[in-house]
Amino acid sequence: MRSDHIYDDSTFETFFANPPEGIEMEALDRSRIPRHISCIMDGNGRWATARGMNRGEGHKAGIVSLREIITACVRLGVEVLSAYAFSTENWKRPAAEVNLLMHLFAQTFVDELPLLKRENVRVVFLGDLSALPKRTRDVFEYGLAETSGHTGMVLALAVNYGARAELARAARLLAQDALAGKIDPCDIDEDAVASRLYTAGLPDPELIIRTSGELRLSNYLLWQAAYSEFYITRTYWPDFNRWELIDAILAFQGRDRRFGGVHNREVS
Ligand code: FPP
Repeated sequence: MRSDHIYDDSTFETFFANPPEGIEMEALDRSRIPRHISCIMDGNGRWATARGMNRGEGHKAGIVSLREIITACVRLGVEVLSAYAFSTENWKRPAAEVNLLMHLFAQTFVDELPLLKRENVRVVFLGDLSALPKRTRDVFEYGLAETSGHTGMVLALAVNYGARAELARAARLLAQDALAGKIDPCDIDEDAVASRLYTAGLPDPELIIRTSGELRLSNYLLWQAAYSEFYITRTYWPDFNRWELIDAILAFQGRDRRFGGVHNREVS
């Protein structure tokens, strides 16, 4: 599982060599790769259950997929890859599963830090890390510091994240700044809110991928997803790979993004 075993010196061409039937790499417009791709990594548990394995094995397999998608996004030149790893609602899961996930997060981070360093990836976290077990928080904070000077892709991991909690926090921060006289309430605009979200400074996701076929946002990036394109696949996250990612980007490139304006074909 350690990254030194899987690290490769691949280029875009070698990483995406030999696509399976049905994937048309030549159709990919490399000048129109989404700046920010976000993944709702769903279906680890069902993947495992379908194989007679326990849910923990599904999460471990999900980590392998995440690693492949990180490398794929780096090779594609994506600016930001974000991934929903643990929601504010996930605490309701059985304690054993929560504990395993927290342990896996810490272990994965230790294992993958060399990969993130070699790939010049800067890690940021979306969510309230203060509620995490100390070891997980310590490892995350170490990773944050160790990669803070990196200039390549940003990997934004949503851990103990909930969009409503994020918006309530932004409101709290704004109220505190107003009370301290730092901001006039009349000046509170969209930028003022956006700059107090966990994603401050990052572009909004252009493409949100959800695996396992569910058609919901599940309290994820509610503000940032205002104009995101959605790509839903029935594939469970542990089976999601570089080729499915290419499929998602090809679908994105086929969409007509209007941002509330007129259809492109109607513009003369
Ligand atoms: C959803 O599947 C997946 C999760 C709750 C965890 C995803 C986390 C990872 C892949 C690891 C991330 C790594 C780091 C370092 C942050 P599910 O359990 O909801 O599956 P189900 O819907 O089939 O039950």
